[in-house]
Amino acid sequence: MNRLLVRDLAQLVSPAGAGAPLRGGALAQVDLVEDAYVLCEDRRIAATGRMRDLPAGLGEVDELDARGLVAIPGLVDCHTHACFAGDRVDEFALRAAGATYEELHAAGGGIISTVRATRAAGEEALTAAVERHRQWMLDAGTTTFEAKSGYGLDKETELAQLRAIRAAGGIPTWLGAHAVPPEYDDADSYLDFALAEVLPEARRLAEAADVFLERGAFDADQARRYLTAAAEAGLALRLHGDQFTNQGAIPLAVEVGARSVDHLEATSAEGIVQLARSDVTGVLLPASALFLDRPMPPARALVDAGAAVALATDFNPGSAFTESLPLVCSLAATQLHLSPAEALAACTVNAAHVLGRDDRKGRIAAGYDADLTLLDAPDWRYLAYHLGHDHVAAVVLAGGRAELG
Ligand code: NIG
Ligand code: FE
Repeated sequence: MNRLLVRDLAQLVSPAGAGAPLRGGALAQVDLVEDAYVLCEDRRIAATGRMRDLPAGLGEVDELDARGLVAIPGLVDCHTHACFAGDRVDEFALRAAGATYEELHAAGGGIISTVRATRAAGEEALTAAVERHRQWMLDAGTTTFEAKSGYGLDKETELAQLRAIRAAGGIPTWLGAHAVPPEYDDADSYLDFALAEVLPEARRLAEAADVFLERGAFDADQARRYLTAAAEAGLALRLHGDQFTNQGAIPLAVEVGARSVDHLEATSAEGIVQLARSDVTGVLLPASALFLDRPMPPARALVDAGAAVALATDFNPGSAFTESLPLVCSLAATQLHLSPAEALAACTVNAAHVLGRDDRKGRIAAGYDADLTLLDAPDWRYLAYHLGHDHVAAVVLAGGRAELG
């Protein structure tokens, strides 16, 4: 048995309680232990507590000296587009000069320009790209990540993306309805192809299906058709919704029993109430709103209304080129008016809930996976407070110390 004792932690912090998703007041509660240890056995956490209560005679065990460090659960990024080739730095410069994301998309750039690069790359290069991005995420304290396809939009590349994500340790989501590729005249004929030809194999590689419900992408009827077929094939459901315009993403997410509806920058007061009354988690992506200079999602109103919310990076080359959940936590505190505790729960246990893993990920407690992020900071709230800083001193992944770049 492999055993690792993380000892003499200045603080150990974990979202309070045992359930998920955390909502309302419970989202703001953390369990905090000072002068703490975490004992990992194989891939799981065996025990946690105060150093003075550490059992004597532990026998053979590796030790990680964590003096001056604080432990939070390994961060969980439940929404990324980490499998892509090329970049969009030229578009970034055009946007800086005034072009909008939607204009670039309508002109055949945007997502479609990454589709061209991704189709040309080949599976080996795509796997290498996800591995490189995974290392960036690990360096920023992320131990579990979801990643979407959606830059292939043909059978071969969509399936290659899903395999590459899995090979690099990610949780794959089939974003088969991200954009209509140029070889199709309209969204309906593209969906005829995707559902008949790609879904039968994507269902074996992916855990969930996702759709971009937006003006210029897929409308509500098309999204319903795609999601209904994906659910029948056994996939969990996600939606990109209310990013630029309200096209009915929240009622559709509730109707089809989606796990999440993600973005919500354009969500109305009515949508907030609908989401709060449902089991659908709202995934907030403030780095994307910042990167595109768009309004922030109504996070405070969602939490106060009782909605389940998670935070994620949306890491992708076009609308959010950042892998940093600590940066997202800073944006959550300064732009979304969430407390550091709410931000922490939103990118740990609630994000794990979106990925169907809240019984194993997102808390530091006996029985959970031994994934820990150790910050070099005097107080765990530096996670959000120290804007743009690299605080990650060490990462424990599946009970072993991960190599940081
Ligand atoms: O979540 N909005 C749709 N999809 C992504 C962006 C992907 C891209 O621009 O390449 C998003 O923002
Ligand atoms: Fe996204």
